[in-house]
Amino acid sequence: MEIAVAGGTGIAGTEVVKIAQQRGHRVRVLTRGNGVDVRSGAGLEEALSGADAVIDVLSTSTQSARAATEFFTETSSHLLAAGHRSGVGHHLALSIVGVDRAPHGYYAGKLAQEQTVRSGQVPWTIQRATQFHDFAAQTYRNAAVGPLHLALRMRTQPIAIVEVATRLVDLAEAGPSERARDIAGPQEEQLVDMMRSWAAHTGRSGWMPALSLPGAFGRAIRDGSILPGADADLGTVTFADWLNAQPRG
Ligand SMILES: NC(=O)c1ccc[n+]([C@@H]2O[C@H](COP(=O)([O-])OP(=O)(O)OC[C@H]3O[C@@H](n4cnc5c(N)ncnc54)[C@H](OP(=O)(O)O)[C@@H]3O)[C@@H](O)[C@H]2O)c1
Repeated sequence: MEIAVAGGTGIAGTEVVKIAQQRGHRVRVLTRGNGVDVRSGAGLEEALSGADAVIDVLSTSTQSARAATEFFTETSSHLLAAGHRSGVGHHLALSIVGVDRAPHGYYAGKLAQEQTVRSGQVPWTIQRATQFHDFAAQTYRNAAVGPLHLALRMRTQPIAIVEVATRLVDLAEAGPSERARDIAGPQEEQLVDMMRSWAAHTGRSGWMPALSLPGAFGRAIRDGSILPGADADLGTVTFADWLNAQPRG
């Protein structure tokens, strides 16, 4: 198959590209670094010409609902419109488990993305996944206040990126299936513990006080609202397995 991976240089995208290529698919990587700005649409039509499927693993770093909604609506609209004109038969988007159960700016953007995909003219699949194991490292970097690294109190069931990427390529090969069954890691973790274990494993030092985020989103991530339901498909790689495979600091 000819597969276009929007965001193919990102954390998830790199793995999707690798797995798709290992399976013998021809892959086009759609990123600004490769001359395709999905948000403005520059270079998009050409990049999608002759593609069978698009896997959208784009992201933005904003936490603002307005900015995230604009980003995901514009990028999805452009991918769908150019895909429709180019005869793309399958648009596949990666979303997040619980985006409709926890009020958060970025999640508002992901919900808007899902709605855009559902109402587009290209047959679609939406795959929701839980946080990646790497989320511990991302939060360590993003929640730094001076020498402190705030460790959020959050229940999560993290999954290995390779298992998410494998599922996305499986779905691309299978064809449009609309809302796929959610995927999650094999067991629940506390983000605080994940961050501290990751920091110890990679030789980071510094104080990591546990923080309960105030407000409705803080309550949602503490009360299990973003955990997968009983019908989710579970991966096999635990956070501890993943951490043990990371280089020690
Ligand atoms: N991280 C998690 O725990 C998690 C869990 C579940 C689902 N997800 C979802 O997985 C998806 C991928 O997340 P990620 O963490 O892998 O993202 P990421 O590492 O931040 O990568 C984002 C990618 O998007 C590209 N990009 C951004 N703006 C672009 C534009 N205007 N035009 C073309 N390319 C653009 C970037 O390349 P350039 O900057 O070079 O353009 C990069 O390749 C997201 O939709 C996220 O919601 C993430």
